[in-house]
Amino acid sequence: MTATSSTSVKTQVGIVGGGPSGLMLAQLLHLQGIETILIERQSRDYVLSRIRAGVLEHGFAGLMREARCGERMDKEGEIHHGFFISDQGMTKRRVDLHKYSDGNSVVVYGQTELTRDLYEARDKLGGTLIHNVEDVKLHDLKGASFLTYRKGDDVHRIDCDFIIGADGFHGVSRKSIPKEVLREYEKIYPFGWLGILSRTKPVSPELIYARHDRGFALCSMRSQVLSRYYIQVPLTDTEECWSDEAFWEEIKRRIPAEDAARMETGPSIEKSIAPLRSFVAEPMRYGNLFLAGDAAHIVPPTGARGLNSAASDIFYLYHALIEHYKKGSRKGLDNYSARALARVWKAQRFSWWMTMLLHTFPDMPGYDRRLQDIEMDYLFSSEAAMRSLAENYAGLPF
Ligand code: FAD
Ligand code: PHB
Repeated sequence: MTATSSTSVKTQVGIVGGGPSGLMLAQLLHLQGIETILIERQSRDYVLSRIRAGVLEHGFAGLMREARCGERMDKEGEIHHGFFISDQGMTKRRVDLHKYSDGNSVVVYGQTELTRDLYEARDKLGGTLIHNVEDVKLHDLKGASFLTYRKGDDVHRIDCDFIIGADGFHGVSRKSIPKEVLREYEKIYPFGWLGILSRTKPVSPELIYARHDRGFALCSMRSQVLSRYYIQVPLTDTEECWSDEAFWEEIKRRIPAEDAARMETGPSIEKSIAPLRSFVAEPMRYGNLFLAGDAAHIVPPTGARGLNSAASDIFYLYHALIEHYKKGSRKGLDNYSARALARVWKAQRFSWWMTMLLHTFPDMPGYDRRLQDIEMDYLFSSEAAMRSLAENYAGLPF
């Protein structure tokens, strides 16, 4: 297709990706008088239809407030001081987050809702968000950097001091770093999570993480009338393999009998499979390009760390950019990658640990199964082990 016209604009920070990372950074910078233009490949409706994270650590919630987007989260989000771990449906023990993480807690508030709040805040301040962009390219990352994209038949150019790659795992930003510079670390797990959303009352006031020989299960929620449930499934399964009835029957087998007996069931309003993957790209900076969130790292959802790892990237970048624009110092920008990666790897370790503790692996040797048993035993008999779980789940400091 031939382009019919082109435009060129200039901004301070060009942001690729309108998920939570990109939106949050745009909002925080705008409040500090730093100009941004954000480009997003999808429509707003599409971004808001993706059902993803449900648990926010207290640091993320704090960032929402700093971005002046925390009002609805504080009103409608639920504060959880703990969660349950069930084992083979036989035991159900509580992890007291509040007690073991020095008074911290998490907020149960859906990613869909917080993304909607961020979009509304951007609209209110008149922030520039451009949706449905195609063919995004990043240019001259070590010199006078600029972005180009196509919208319809027209090609557009944005010149910027810095480019933030917040375009998720499948985005273009990470791929714009030369192969000889980028190191990628990856672990793919041999299963996925089948998740459903249903307009039913959650089975438990706090989340239940269930270890079971048939496979892991998670009982979560979005509100008191909206439940989110997951079961571990083989990678070969598709959504079509699982009728709603089959899903409910299976999850009931994996959780304690008294919870199964009172579980409210109903039609699913969303059903999807997410493969489990751990991934880190290093470094997170190349010239004027800074990667943030899922563009640079992915965790399996078991530890509820994905969005929360994105939050610390945004926190470090936000402060580094303020330091640059307001104090003329590049120190924060120069330290960004090392600083962000130090916390990212801790979230990787924790998510890997939770995943290994709670899932059933195909052809799992008896030895590994016994290690899982003893790890679980140790967790509930050692205050040190419980503190380690609680401080990681509630969120390590930024
Ligand atoms: P994304 O949300 O992926 O946003 C990137 C955006 O960039 C997208 O809108 C995309 O359309 C856009 N984009 C892509 N390519 C381009 C391009 N070329 N040009 C322009 N735009 C582009 N995390 C938690 O902390 N707690 C949880 O409880 C939790 N639960 C989860 C459950 C599931 C089932 C899944 C799948 C994830 C979960 N996560 C959780 C992880 C969390 O959802 C992600 O970490 C989070 O979405 C990352 O945000 P992001 O903005 O970095 O990336
Ligand atoms: C969710 O509600 O989607 C959710 C909650 C906790 C997790 C993962 C996902 O660990």
